[in-house]
Amino acid sequence: MSNKIQVTVLGATGAVGQRFVRRLANHPLFQIAHLTASDRSAGKHYQDACEWRLDGEPFAGLGACILETSDPGAAFGPVVFSALDTDIARELEPAYARAGALVFSNAAAFRMEPDVPLLVPEVNPEHLGLLEGQRKTRGWSGGILTNPNCTTTVLVMALAPLHAAFGVEAVLMTSMQAASGAGYPGVSSLDLMGNVIPFIKGEEGKVEVETAKLLGQFEGSRVVEAPVAVSALCHRVPVLEGHTEAVSVRLKGDPSPEQVREVLAAWKPEPQRLGLPSAPALPIRLHEAENRPQVRRDVELDGGMSVHIGRIRRCPVLGIKFSLLGHNTERGAAGGSVLNAELAKVYGCL
Ligand SMILES: NC(=O)c1ccc[n+]([C@@H]2O[C@H](COP(=O)([O-])OP(=O)(O)OC[C@H]3O[C@@H](n4cnc5c(N)ncnc54)[C@H](OP(=O)(O)O)[C@@H]3O)[C@@H](O)[C@H]2O)c1
Repeated sequence: MSNKIQVTVLGATGAVGQRFVRRLANHPLFQIAHLTASDRSAGKHYQDACEWRLDGEPFAGLGACILETSDPGAAFGPVVFSALDTDIARELEPAYARAGALVFSNAAAFRMEPDVPLLVPEVNPEHLGLLEGQRKTRGWSGGILTNPNCTTTVLVMALAPLHAAFGVEAVLMTSMQAASGAGYPGVSSLDLMGNVIPFIKGEEGKVEVETAKLLGQFEGSRVVEAPVAVSALCHRVPVLEGHTEAVSVRLKGDPSPEQVREVLAAWKPEPQRLGLPSAPALPIRLHEAENRPQVRRDVELDGGMSVHIGRIRRCPVLGIKFSLLGHNTERGAAGGSVLNAELAKVYGCL
């Protein structure tokens, strides 16, 4: 009998769900017990209901599993990874939490609720402390923990060490976001090939509000948002995986590019100190070449869990600017969520 914690993946057939399945298939702490999808797919073998789109072993070896409905009335593991769309998550995730499961959600439904941790383990592990109050006030024996929108996740990985060292006052971020960020089939290829679309519904607002919560101070039972002005301009580009972001920041004390580089290079946050299984050795990989980071060359390194930063230089408007790259469906979704669960395990929340 395995000592691993039994887990359920909600939305296992989707773009993020498949990445959960591949990550969890051989995980040292967790073991997949249940895979769910919509009622259209429930009752079918995973391999018959799911168009597998990842490298490696098809269906991560679980093609013969029978998909279950996403209704918590069915059996579920005590840890639930949710790759459901936001509207469905809003309805189902609280039902799992009420029934005793700890839900690690990718959806936007509960991210900005004051009692719900919005978590990137390198950035704000102490925000896990919100869980206790959430359980008390909502009367849940389980709970909901969220990871941020993918664009925000990779941005705050760069901002967190700078905020700790200097204080971030203002951020201007222009993104070039991969097609996979819209799920499957996402934006039609006829609309996206050879094109740039300067609109992603809801994205800019999410980056602006989630960043302030993530960089906020945990004060006993609540998070006081950081007074950081954030302006985001988001674009969809014909790239498969990996969001590129052009970032300008105003930092207190106006540090030089060399000081910024030193701080980013020296950053060794909690998951790396704890040696969590999904934590990359380097949370930030710094690039010296003037034409890096690049999606095709860099984004899959470290299983997509590192954030890549290059071209750190003076910005005549805000002080410092750089280019950033991160994996939207790994670090920005499934990998980030699994790392949250690993942190929760070490912190005694599971
Ligand atoms: N893609 C990204 O880069 C990214 C990054 C961060 C966060 N997210 C978030 O992660 C979540 C999933 O995104 P995705 O891109 O993986 O979406 P997706 O590819 O559209 O997958 C959606 C999943 O939900 C299931 N589903 C659909 N309707 C359902 C229903 N009524 N009841 C139960 N299950 C249902 C689908 O099952 P069937 O196959 O049976 O339809 C499928 O497994 C979203 O909340 C998204 O915002 C995505």
